[in-house]
Amino acid sequence: MKTLVVYSTETGNTKKVAEAIAKALPGAELYDVKAAPDPAAYDFIAMGFWVDKGGPNKEAAEYMKKICGKKVFTFFTLGANPDSMHAKTCAEAAPKSYGEGTEQVAAFWCQGAIAPNLIAWMRKMPAGNPHAPTPEAEKRWAEAAKHPDETDLQHAAQAAAEALAKVQA
Ligand SMILES: Cc1cc2nc3c(=O)[nH]c(=O)nc-3n(C[C@H](O)[C@H](O)[C@H](O)COP(=O)(O)O)c2cc1C
Repeated sequence: MKTLVVYSTETGNTKKVAEAIAKALPGAELYDVKAAPDPAAYDFIAMGFWVDKGGPNKEAAEYMKKICGKKVFTFFTLGANPDSMHAKTCAEAAPKSYGEGTEQVAAFWCQGAIAPNLIAWMRKMPAGNPHAPTPEAEKRWAEAAKHPDETDLQHAAQAAAEALAKVQA
């Protein structure tokens, strides 16, 4: 089975998850989306994005549209709590980003450290703004800064390996 792992990253979080996944999938080829090959030549694709304003970041979304008629494993990192409604909404929307006939076998997501410049920008927001620096937001940003951690990487690798096994069964 020809296996491809593609990721898009701005600050490295999604790349770390992609590397852990690639190690867990025998013979997998790993590419940054900027240099990724035509997905048509592969049987199983693990596709990773970072959440940008509630959805897959633009470069990942453009590539996902080109993945047609494949079995895929989706993974993503985001600043929000992975158990939040926001994370669930992102997860539910992800399968719709693929091209025609693509079936998402499974998905994995975890928090990823938020870029310091974005945090600095949010800290300047006035009270009442959805991005304003409340104590809860500061707590969430501090928690995000610890991810992806070793446990996240292990879980990602395991979920991807299970998805591949399901496709091969
Ligand atoms: C411009 C921008 C927009 C973002 N939008 C969201 C968002 O809507 N929801 C969220 O939970 N995290 C958001 N984040 C946080 C990133 O998704 C998160 O830090 C991710 O792990 C970054 O991945 P990367 O290191 O692979 O680039 C945003 C980050 C940036 C820089």
